[in-house]
Amino acid sequence: MKTKNKVLWSIVCLALLIACGIALVWQPRIAPITPPAAVRFDSAQIALGQRLAALGDCAVCHTRDGGARNAGGRPLATPFGTIYSTNLTPDPQHGIGSWSYEAFERAMRHGIDREGRHLYPAFPYTAFTHTSDDDLKALYAYLMSQKPVNEPTPATQLPFPFNQRYLMAGWNLLFHKSGPLKNDPSKSIEWNRGAYLAEGLGHCSACHTPRNFLGAERGGAAHFGGGVADGWDVPALNAASPAPIPWTQADLSSYLRQGFTPLHGIAGGPMAPVIDGVSGLPEDDLDALATYLASFGKKPPDAEAQVKRAAELRAQTYGRMQPVTGEGARIFSSACMACHHDGSGPHLFGVRPSLAFNTNLHAERPDNLIRTILDGVTHPAKSDLGYMPGFRHSLNDDQISALVGYLREHFAQQPAWRDVRGTTAALRAETAGKN
Ligand code: HEC
Ligand code: HEC
Ligand code: HEC
Repeated sequence: MKTKNKVLWSIVCLALLIACGIALVWQPRIAPITPPAAVRFDSAQIALGQRLAALGDCAVCHTRDGGARNAGGRPLATPFGTIYSTNLTPDPQHGIGSWSYEAFERAMRHGIDREGRHLYPAFPYTAFTHTSDDDLKALYAYLMSQKPVNEPTPATQLPFPFNQRYLMAGWNLLFHKSGPLKNDPSKSIEWNRGAYLAEGLGHCSACHTPRNFLGAERGGAAHFGGGVADGWDVPALNAASPAPIPWTQADLSSYLRQGFTPLHGIAGGPMAPVIDGVSGLPEDDLDALATYLASFGKKPPDAEAQVKRAAELRAQTYGRMQPVTGEGARIFSSACMACHHDGSGPHLFGVRPSLAFNTNLHAERPDNLIRTILDGVTHPAKSDLGYMPGFRHSLNDDQISALVGYLREHFAQQPAWRDVRGTTAALRAETAGKN
């Protein structure tokens, strides 16, 4: 009798477990709708949605090179394989034309598509989930009033087990916290607004925070501790920031507006399209974002100390330029100096960034610097920042590694990076044909 009972109980428990598993994994399909007419939405709502879409970089990920805006198909490399972005235009066949607001909201907050399938977190729903109802409705209005593009996107095919999308239910259970951010009453209204923009649609931490082996952002002190994006090294924005002069709220705010500040680097890599989107926000929002970010960094020096430190750095580097000795120095003075001359003169005009203040020279790896030298800056965040030519065809790997060694030693005055030549050859091969 006793054993019989035990067996019975085991069966009941197992059935319950399976039922719980299914309840967790299974998500209903949401019925398709006929695409809503754009006139249904008011123009102020559409305009707000457009600004929010820019903040969320929707078009950056959802547009492939040379493809129609938001029609998807851009390959995103992840450690688990290539994931293609989807068609985000209101096309009923290939896009989200048949998605009700309810279906859109579920995708943005819970990472589930209209059919009930789990989406991969390469789509930053873990951040977008914090977006308010009003903002999500505006985004929906904007997306639904774009021109539909009848274009399929390549299917994402990850290797087993990652192709089992339902496994993302377990991932979500571990790492996804849906719903609004908690207001922190100990902080200012401005700070909380900044948190909403940065942690929500801005998804700044998606690139600026390191990830664990399952691809989830690490929390706690690792938040904003730096990461990787499209092969670029993403600098930390917290106390681990490699910036030689700590960021102030004012500097952050002007960097977000223009992609540049005199005492820091330039948004020349994957940060450039982010600036393009963010800079369209109202002034108050940009200041709020900067206030929030500044609260993570080292305590910035006061303005006077900052100017003093900048002068010191400039004197230590440009002041010691003469005479030019060594191969790296010679290459710098012939290939780069014309534009990156010392701090004297109108160095802000057309932007001649002082390399002494550039975060990339102080970073742990030389990758961003080498990428910039190979391919220049062809898509500046703002066109008035100017363009920089690439040196892929005029400098060989030995010359680039001599130059990089010189820049590191002279401008950052930090220990030399290891295997610069090997990294240069690898990056040259990886980006060949792209530029
Ligand atoms: C970092 C890149 C990235 C950004 C930024 C991004 N998306 Fe996506 N999105 C993706 C990828 C990749 C997928 C496909 C995920 C998958 O296949 O599981 C996706 C899927 C979606 C889907 C599901 C569509 C479908 O047909 O299944 C919606 C809705 C969506 N994104 C909306 C947005 C909106 C709105 C924004 C801007 C606020 C945005 N995305 C920004 C990468 C991105
Ligand atoms: C697609 C990845 C990506 C996203 C999203 C992103 N960043 Fe960046 N960010 C970078 C990279 C890469 C750099 C290095 C500079 C470059 O690209 O030229 C950078 C640089 C920066 C810098 C300069 C740091 C320094 O010390 O030079 C700041 C400040 C910054 N980002 C703020 C933000 C904010 C605020 C957001 C959200 C609104 C954000 N980033 C979103 C990739 C990203
Ligand atoms: C024709 C002028 C010109 C020349 C020559 C030039 N640069 Fe630049 N460089 C620029 C401009 C302009 C920018 C800012 C681009 C932007 O983001 O708009 C820049 C940016 C940079 C950056 C910052 C990139 C970032 O994302 O932070 C580095 C590093 C750099 N240059 C290094 C070099 C080196 C090394 C050489 C020589 C091999 C060189 N440059 C030659 C004009 C030039």
